Amino acid sequence: MITAGVDVGSLSADAVVLNDGKVAGYSVVNTGADMRRAATQSYNQALEQAGLEHSDVGMVVSTGYGRSSVPFASKAVTEITCHGKGARFLFPGASTIIDIGGQDSKVIEVGGLGKVVDFVMNDRCAAGTGRFLEVMAQALEVDLGDMGEVSLKHKHDVVISSTCTVFAESEVISLLASGYSREEILNGIHQAIASRVYALGMKLRIRDEVVLTGGVVKNIAVARALEKRLGMKLKTPPEPQIVGALGAALHARSLVDHS
Ligand SMILES: Nc1ncnc2c1ncn2[C@@H]1O[C@H](COP(=O)(O)OP(=O)(O)OP(=O)(O)O)[C@@H](O)[C@H]1O
Ligand SMILES: [Mg+2]
Repeated sequence: MITAGVDVGSLSADAVVLNDGKVAGYSVVNTGADMRRAATQSYNQALEQAGLEHSDVGMVVSTGYGRSSVPFASKAVTEITCHGKGARFLFPGASTIIDIGGQDSKVIEVGGLGKVVDFVMNDRCAAGTGRFLEVMAQALEVDLGDMGEVSLKHKHDVVISSTCTVFAESEVISLLASGYSREEILNGIHQAIASRVYALGMKLRIRDEVVLTGGVVKNIAVARALEKRLGMKLKTPPEPQIVGALGAALHARSLVDHS
C-alpha cells in the first residue's frame, strides 16, 4: 500500500511517500509565501524520487501550520499526533519527542502504545526556535548550517542572559564589541536555546528515550547542549525535518487499513 504525508511548516514543506511501510521518497522545500505551491512541489519531488505517480497513492494526509493549504490531501491532522507517530516509527521506544522548528518548539509525551499523553508548545516567542538561530546567524555573519560546528570550537563559556530574541541580538552585538569570539558567542546562543526548550520540557515528564525532530536539531551544537541540560543521550533521526510528514503518511496508512 502506498500513502503520503505532507507537513507544511512555517519554514519548510516536507513530504514523505510510504510504500509498504518503507520510505520510498521524501522531499524538503522552503515554504515561502505560497503554501499550496510549496506543498505541491514537495509532494511531486517525493513522488519523483519514489518513481511513482499521483494515481499510485492511496491516501494523502497533511499536517503542520499550513495543513489546510494542501488541496490533494484527504485529511488534515495535527502536528503533535504526526510527530508522535513518526518518531515512534523510527524509534519504537520513544517516550518524549522534542521538535524544534522554524517558528515554534514543542515537547510531546507519548504513552506505551504510542498515543500522545500530553504536550507543551511555545509558539508565542521566537526564543527557543529556528527563528532565534537565524537572527543570530545573521548578526554573526555565519551560515546557518555552520553554526553548530563553529561553536563546538569555543574555549570559554559566555552566557547570553536576555531571553527575548531582540534583546539577545543586542547582547550578541555588545559581546562582539567587547572582544568575545564568534565561537564563544555561538556556544552561548546554543546554550540559551537549549535552556528555553528545557524550561518548556520541564512542564512535562521527560523520559528516556528522547527523540529530537525539526530542522534546528540538524545543528549538532543544539543537540549537544540539550543532552547536557537533560543529562541523557538523545536520539536524532538521519533526516529530522521529515518526521511530521512521515507521521502523516503513517496516519494515512492506518486510515486506509481501517476503511
Ligand atoms: N542544515 C541546517 N543546520 C542548522 N539549522 C537548520 C538547517 N536546516 C534547517 N535548519 C533550521 O531549521 C528551521 C526549520 O525547521 P523546520 O523545517 O522543522 O521548521 P518548520 O516545520 O517549517 O517550522 P514550524 O514547525 O515551526 O512551523 C530553520 O529555522 C533553520 O533554523
Ligand atoms: Mg514543523
